[in-house]
Amino acid sequence: MVKVNGNYLKLKAGYLFPEIARRVKAFSEVNPKVELIRLGIGDVTEPLPEACREAMKAAVDEMGTLDGFRGYGPEQGYLWLREAIAKNDFQARGCEVSPDEVFVSDGSKCDSSNILDVLGEGNRVAVTDPVYPVYVDTNVMAGRTGEALQSGRYEGLSYLPLSSANSFEAEIPDQKVDLIYLCFPNNPTGAVSTREKLKEWVDYALKNNALILFDAAYEAFIQDSQLPHSIYEIDGSRDCAIEFRSFSKNAGFTGVRCAFTVIPKTVKGKTSSGQEISIWDLWNRRQSTKFNGVSYIVQRGAEAAYSPSGQAQIKGLVSFYMENASIIRRELAHAGLTLFGGEHAPYVWIKTPDGMGSWDFFDHLLEKANVVGTPGSGFGAAGEGYFRLSAFNSRFNVEKAMERIVALS
Ligand code: MLT
Repeated sequence: MVKVNGNYLKLKAGYLFPEIARRVKAFSEVNPKVELIRLGIGDVTEPLPEACREAMKAAVDEMGTLDGFRGYGPEQGYLWLREAIAKNDFQARGCEVSPDEVFVSDGSKCDSSNILDVLGEGNRVAVTDPVYPVYVDTNVMAGRTGEALQSGRYEGLSYLPLSSANSFEAEIPDQKVDLIYLCFPNNPTGAVSTREKLKEWVDYALKNNALILFDAAYEAFIQDSQLPHSIYEIDGSRDCAIEFRSFSKNAGFTGVRCAFTVIPKTVKGKTSSGQEISIWDLWNRRQSTKFNGVSYIVQRGAEAAYSPSGQAQIKGLVSFYMENASIIRRELAHAGLTLFGGEHAPYVWIKTPDGMGSWDFFDHLLEKANVVGTPGSGFGAAGEGYFRLSAFNSRFNVEKAMERIVALS
């Protein structure tokens, strides 16, 4: 019989969101008439921006003509999209990123996982706890960890604990690590980082020859103009950081699929014999072998996100979800709950009341308020005692969910 990848057997449970879906399905089967409100997975609900839709429709029509038809596109993405990204997302903020350093893809989740393909074994990997579970699970799958421990953590990973005591911002490690996952604005806690703190991370990475994997999928939700949107706003980061970005949450592309990864040509790794090698070269090699690019139609939709009307429509979407977040914050604070996040991120991170466990609170809200959220412990052992609500839903549903939760208190 064929041998399987035994690393998968180390995974503790199903991926968090399918696990929630399984529990919700079981509840709905027993309670078919109950109308659930889903504030669990961070999936957008509002219609696609008109500018993106019109651009995609025009691209479909173009593809229906002999002259406009396109087959395989460039694996790295069409140059016009990479130019729009480099100019609007980076150069406009004073960051030195060239179109050549942008790789268009179908998702940040995929890229932040696939990057392990070009990174060797034996790297000491640091993740925060709680953390977006993809960073941990993909390291487990790739054999970069030991077994699962009783605590819910994995042997071989360095965990950087987050709590209200450190404002959900990890301390710089006191030992050497090689790979550091950072996510700002943070999923799940909604915390943001300052330029000063990011500079400390960059300095640490430069001093220790470490690589920062910076997930900025939620940067559009930052409300304070002083806060950094990109790691490349920090001096020295071009030598030690890769950044992941996405059109999923700002332009509502979770179902359309388009994202990008920036790998500066100056980021280097080393071979087993100690020779310096460009990570850009390896990623380019990987993508041209394993990836055929994002469809022309979708890339035209993403490009339109940078048009003046696209920018205005995206701003409207982000404001809409952030208004939801402030409703969640206001109502739950009235209900006496302790809250974090939700000010520069579409996630509100809640301390569970009366020391309730995260999954107990999940069941409590599911059964008593018919609201689905995400148990903090699903993001790591240190997430126990917390609960995440997503602001991605209609205004009607968010208000109704809050009424139901407040009524329980
Ligand atoms: C979440 O709810 O954490 C997000 O949906 C994760 C993701 O974007 O993959």
